[in-house]
Amino acid sequence: MQNPKNILISGASSGLGFELAIAYAAADINLFLCGRNKEKLDEVKIICERLKANVSYKVFDIKNSTEAKNWIEEIEEKYALDLVIANAGISAGTAEGSESFAQVKEIFSTNLDGVLNIIHPAIEKMLKRKKGQIALMSSLAGFRGLPSSPAYSASKAAVRVYAESLRGNLEKFGIEVNAICPGYIKTPMTDVNDFPMPFLMPVKKAAQIIKLGLAKNKSRLAFPFPLYFVVWLAALLSTKITDPIFAKLPNKKALKN
Ligand SMILES: NC(=O)c1ccc[n+]([C@@H]2O[C@H](COP(=O)([O-])OP(=O)(O)OC[C@H]3O[C@@H](n4cnc5c(N)ncnc54)[C@H](OP(=O)(O)O)[C@@H]3O)[C@@H](O)[C@H]2O)c1
Repeated sequence: MQNPKNILISGASSGLGFELAIAYAAADINLFLCGRNKEKLDEVKIICERLKANVSYKVFDIKNSTEAKNWIEEIEEKYALDLVIANAGISAGTAEGSESFAQVKEIFSTNLDGVLNIIHPAIEKMLKRKKGQIALMSSLAGFRGLPSSPAYSASKAAVRVYAESLRGNLEKFGIEVNAICPGYIKTPMTDVNDFPMPFLMPVKKAAQIIKLGLAKNKSRLAFPFPLYFVVWLAALLSTKITDPIFAKLPNKKALKN
């Protein structure tokens, strides 16, 4: 959508969400942000207000569907959301062992339920006015399962495929849907990785690519291109070829308990 005015971003207290809020901040823009870290939300609010945007935020856990729904209904009493970016997510891997069931559940409930909790109350409202845009944050990790982060890869694959399916379904009702699939972006999420990250991209550049891609209503915003090509090809090749290669990838840290 060109020039959205009322924009909701989940996970705006850090990394990509934080920079997306700044990228959209301007006069006459209403930003609705959420996360759990109040201090960081205050920080992004101050920056965006300096850029003349109107900013409000809600501190809550994205896994809580009731809080998400109530928040969106409260916003919609006064504003018609144009763009919803379901960005909040967590990442973790197997470390030297395998993932605990608790970690797997936490990743799926944050990365998948957390996306659904935000987009569905918004879609209900957008369906009534036949207008709006919903962007779901997936990842290049969602194209081919990574042994170092099974739950993360699978959660992001689910988000991407859901976005692509919803796009075809909601287009006729005037709602645009986009799957955002970044590679490695420099944020607090990747700062914990102690292995080389190919084509690591500055977060401000990633936010600009996403803003531009959403304005053009691209179905899939997958970047940077060289890494996209690698994972796209890996998904096509026989697992006899790819399994031994992927098994050698460095381990990703597990969630701290
Ligand atoms: N960085 C990358 O290389 C990369 C690549 C591909 C995709 N992504 C995806 O991009 C999104 C943003 O990642 P990032 O790199 O910006 O990470 P980040 O800096 O760690 O930010 C994650 C954001 O999600 C929020 N969040 C996480 N769990 C939450 C919960 N239970 N309830 C509410 N908010 C929650 C965090 O807020 P609080 O801390 O305030 O709770 C924070 O604002 C994620 O979905 C990630 O999977 C990132």
